[in-house]
Amino acid sequence: MANIDNVDSIEIRPLAGVIGAEIFGVDVASGLSNLAREQIHQAFLDHKAIFFRDQNLSPRQLVDFAGLFGKPGIYPFVKHVDDYPEIIELLTTETDTVNFGRNWHSDTTYMPKPFLGTVLYALETPSFGGDTQFANMTAAYEALSDGMKAMLDGLHAVNSSAQKRLGGRANKMKALSAMKDTYVKESEPIEAVHPVVRTHPETGEKALYVNRSHSVHFDGMTEEESEPVLKYLFDHCTRPEFLCRFRWEPGSIAVWDNRCTLHQAIGDYFGSRRRMHRVTLEGDAPA
Ligand code: SIN
Repeated sequence: MANIDNVDSIEIRPLAGVIGAEIFGVDVASGLSNLAREQIHQAFLDHKAIFFRDQNLSPRQLVDFAGLFGKPGIYPFVKHVDDYPEIIELLTTETDTVNFGRNWHSDTTYMPKPFLGTVLYALETPSFGGDTQFANMTAAYEALSDGMKAMLDGLHAVNSSAQKRLGGRANKMKALSAMKDTYVKESEPIEAVHPVVRTHPETGEKALYVNRSHSVHFDGMTEEESEPVLKYLFDHCTRPEFLCRFRWEPGSIAVWDNRCTLHQAIGDYFGSRRRMHRVTLEGDAPA
């Protein structure tokens, strides 16, 4: 593979006030120079979610590109695509009335070492709708009062795969006409306790680390005691000024940092087909 130094042509265009940037002038399949790789990785840390358009990647090239941001891992709850254990297919068919990833979350916060980041590559997209929104959890943390920060700094939250607040993950997966066959159901919900405010291991920035899909209650408190504050935080961190929204086309790629962002896939395109390939990157224990 040629090692083209196309760093001069790279253009990084922010997408919104505090999160998201589109990167132009890069063919990610063509073999990036070390300098281009460094620039892209820095943009990932600076903007927390980065986007590329008009890319054309084989599954092997997708996994290799994902390796720029971390070690591609195995997502245990959806069967991988043939020959590529690191890739799963997210498919909404024309008959589906639910979609995967439709509520605000950070990926797999119910695991002891949640995925560091995610790379999503669009193969088929609806002619309109099906955008993904992202929230900057560092900006959300920084906007809290000193009193709230002091209260949250020492707290931990229990995160669960059950998605009880949203009607249950198994029910949602059963309703997906294609993905129900690739869903690998956990025998018991998986739970992990993580700090409510985590420090990013690469930037040193603090970020809120709770989400509506998986955070059930504060450790050592009941669900009833926790819910009012959690609800406040869920609403707070998705205020419009902390968000960006990405419009997909076939060949688009998004890469987001699960350590300091939330995302949700908007379910507004039913009757159309949307097919994506996803690679998740191994992470560490939040601290
Ligand atoms: C996800 O939550 O990983 C899916 C996001 C999307 O399909 O836009």
